[in-house]
Formats: sequence, C-alpha cells, structure tokens
Amino acid sequence: MKLFIDTANVEEIRKVSALGILDGVTTNPTLLAKEGRNPNDVAREILALVPGPVSLEVTALDSEGMVSQGKELATLASNVVVKIPMGAEGLRATKRLSSEDIAVNMTLVFSANQALLAAKAGARYVSPFVGRIDDVGQDGMQVVQEIADIFRNYDFKCEILAASIRHPQHVLQAARLGADIATVPYAVIEQMVKHPLTDIGLQRFMKDWESLKAAKVNI
Ligand code: G3P
Repeated sequence: MKLFIDTANVEEIRKVSALGILDGVTTNPTLLAKEGRNPNDVAREILALVPGPVSLEVTALDSEGMVSQGKELATLASNVVVKIPMGAEGLRATKRLSSEDIAVNMTLVFSANQALLAAKAGARYVSPFVGRIDDVGQDGMQVVQEIADIFRNYDFKCEILAASIRHPQHVLQAARLGADIATVPYAVIEQMVKHPLTDIGLQRFMKDWESLKAAKVNI
C-alpha cells in the first residue's frame, strides 16, 4: 500500500519524506488555508520536495472552470494530480481532463456509487472520506470495501485512496481491505511509528548493555 501525507505543511512533508516511506501528498483548500501562505508558493515547494503524486485541488464549481484550473495546475509539474470534487460538474471535468491524460483524484466521495462514476469518468484516484463517513454514524471502511469489490469485478484502473484518516486503525483497516493508498495526517503517521513496548524494550536493551560495559567485559 502506498502512503501519502495529507497536509499542506512543508515541514511535515520534509520530516516524513526523510523517513523514506512517503509515496505522495494530498492537499485541499482547508489544509492550505491552515498554512496561511500563498497557495502557489506552497504547491511549488511541495512539488520540489516530492517526486510522487501531489494532489492539488481546483476551486471552481463549474466544469469549464475546473478544466481550465486543472490544466493550469498540471503545467506546474509532471507529478501534479488534479483534485476534482465529486458531482455532475466534477464528473464532466474529470472526463475531459483524463481524456487529455491529466491525472485526476476525485475527492469528496462518500459512497461506492460515487466511486463507480468517478472510475467510469476516468479518474486515476478516488478518495472515499472514511472519517467523515464515520462522523455521520455510517461505516467509512464499509464504503472502502464496497469500492474495492466493484473495482475488482470490473478491473477498473482507478486507485482507491482512503482519505479523511483519523487514527492508526483506519490505516490498518484500509491496508487489510486492499486500498491502494492511504493519505494520512502527520500526527497519525507519528502514532503509527510508535509503540510503548518498543520504547520500553529499547530502554531495557540500553540498560543491559550499560551493565555489561560496567562489568568491564571487552566489547
Ligand atoms: O484530503 C481530504 C481529507 O483527507 C480530509 O480529511 O479529516 O478533514 O475529514 P478530514
């Protein structure tokens, strides 16, 4: 499974990239607003840092506007993926961009039927928002499972990008269901790295190593 980071914070991207486990980045207008910086500068910095797919979202609401913004974003670098919101306008824009070989990540997907339509329109990635589905009392991972079943049945080339990940269990479940990608906030990646027994185990190894040295054994 590929691991993307869901952030517009360049420092977070730099830190996770240094771990050697980062495959790509997803951003959205909310994440960019959180940074309070010029979004074009942020996008350029991210693109200079990450060789893998970087999703940049359009803000137009009509398909014409989405297509022209998407084409402009695609000129920034060859690894730009244009993030298009689900809906009739979004599907029209996805069809046009994908037929010009511009990669689209269809976002704000909350049902398997929406994902089916995204794949049919030619989206390269589809982003079910698992956390937000859970938030309204439904099962986000059930939607991922349904999408995986459908894509397997018909051999769609569209990749499942589990988004709106809130905790490590979401990543684990997405991986078990065969989601191609999980896009994960920095804090959750940090949680995935850690386990209290790893810390305790390391402390014990170090303590025992010190006692061996104190016993003046030739090391
Ligand atoms: O990239 C979009 C998605 O991951 C948003 O997550 O936590 O705002 O529901 P969240």
